[in-house]
Amino acid sequence: MASSCVWQLLNRMHQRFTPTILRFDSLPSTNIEAANQARMGAPEGLCIVANEQKAGRGRQNRTWHSPAGSGLYFSILLRPAIPMNEWPVMGLAAAVAVHDALVKVSSLETDIKWPNDMLARGRKLCGILSETVETANGRALIVGIGINLLSTGISDEIKEIATAVDEEIGRAIDREELLAAVLRSLGSYYLKFQEGKSREILDEWSSLSTYANGKHVRVLMDGSEIRGITRGLESDGALRVETESGSIETIRAGDVLALRETFEKGQASG
Ligand code: BTN
Repeated sequence: MASSCVWQLLNRMHQRFTPTILRFDSLPSTNIEAANQARMGAPEGLCIVANEQKAGRGRQNRTWHSPAGSGLYFSILLRPAIPMNEWPVMGLAAAVAVHDALVKVSSLETDIKWPNDMLARGRKLCGILSETVETANGRALIVGIGINLLSTGISDEIKEIATAVDEEIGRAIDREELLAAVLRSLGSYYLKFQEGKSREILDEWSSLSTYANGKHVRVLMDGSEIRGITRGLESDGALRVETESGSIETIRAGDVLALRETFEKGQASG
């Protein structure tokens, strides 16, 4: 306990976030490996990277197809000193960090679909899965990021809804350069988060996402569905959606889908 606390304190005093990268050729899932390492006492900043994942995990119990060499698959272990109800903000911060890194490394502009799907021309390019894990040193946060780099890694079944960086910019980018850029950006958002500046992160997210405000959406949650217009984020990163009746629903879990037709006073359709 003592050593990881001292390490965190030193990092905060020096205003830096220094990841330690562990690389694997193949893993079931970098999130699982990061959770195991966390249980064994690993300090925050540990970053697990795999060339392929045999059982990559996505949100809502989905799988994340992770063929060898086709994407950047990694997970970062964090031990925030911030109340847990705000931890979802770090998932949104991760999306902003990926956005910034992609712009820097490839000039590719992406949209962010709540909470943290990265889209290019409406197709999914990156997914982020945040999970918590109980450890002897307290509860920890694992932020897992999967970025499609090569279109050859995208299976035929999802070609319509997924894309990869090479397809978007016409060339492959350097995976290590992208990883370093994401970690740099994520580190600076994490320091902000630890300083209690979640609102700044949420504002940044909102400025980058067409889903933040005024988007006509359908939200699928555990068997139920609502339709409405997005009205910004709550302080914990939840999405506010104004329904047809004028009430505001606060979404903390679920899938958000853009509606093609407008929905103001009348009907909406997907
Ligand atoms: C989603 O959009 O459903 C989230 C996908 C998250 C995939 C990444 S790849 C690295 C990390 N390890 C996992 O098993 N999942 C995340």
